Amino acid sequence: MNQINEEYIEDYIRGLLPDNNLHLKIMEKYAEENHVPIVQPEVAQFLKVLLKLKKPKNILEVGTAIGYSAILMAEYTGEHCNITTIERRNDMIKLAEENISNTIYKSRIKILEGDAEEVLLTLDGKYDFIFLDAAKGQYIDFFNKCIKYLEPGGVIVSDNVLYKGMVATDALVIRRKKTIVKRLRQFLQYINEIECYTSSIIPIGDGVAITYREE
Ligand SMILES: C[S@@+](CC[C@H](N)C(=O)[O-])C[C@H]1O[C@@H](n2cnc3c(N)ncnc32)[C@H](O)[C@@H]1O
Repeated sequence: MNQINEEYIEDYIRGLLPDNNLHLKIMEKYAEENHVPIVQPEVAQFLKVLLKLKKPKNILEVGTAIGYSAILMAEYTGEHCNITTIERRNDMIKLAEENISNTIYKSRIKILEGDAEEVLLTLDGKYDFIFLDAAKGQYIDFFNKCIKYLEPGGVIVSDNVLYKGMVATDALVIRRKKTIVKRLRQFLQYINEIECYTSSIIPIGDGVAITYREE
């Protein structure tokens, strides 16, 4: 059990999901064998549905890793949708570049190298869909920086917000994760209270929050 859902629920939902294409499957295998955390299958499926509904033209992602979710988002959006993704680890950037260059989406995905805290101060575009999937302890900071670039009617999806269930109950909190848990709790409180935004927390994967900016 992942502490968010009972294993039988997760297994059942995963059993219903359609297979991804071969390229994504190869990346899933690589991620599993090399312990690279990528978006979980039911969260990936949720993203696909949101992207079909929202039809974004400009996506910003914080946390590229090997480029799996960037490629997945390219696959589920139209040819006029561009994706900008931020990553600070050189080894991940190299792998993501390789993976992206092997797809038909390479002209639509741009990797920005560096710490998101700094990179997010330097953007000049506007985005209608933002995916936060990086250091959980910095989510409030990422969120506040990102909303400056978010179009009215835009959406921010934040992954891992329930962090193995620890965010919802002290009974699960591991001592060395106390600070991250405290910050995630503050983040969830914040996105539920901030004016002109509407949020929902969905207990799938490791917990996903979706935040809508009013028009
Ligand atoms: C969970 S992984 C991203 C997975 C990816 N979104 C996917 O599903 O395929 C998180 C990534 O964020 C990167 N990261 C964490 N904090 C960051 C920061 N402050 N700036 C830039 N990248 C960061 C990590 O190096 C890691 O590769």
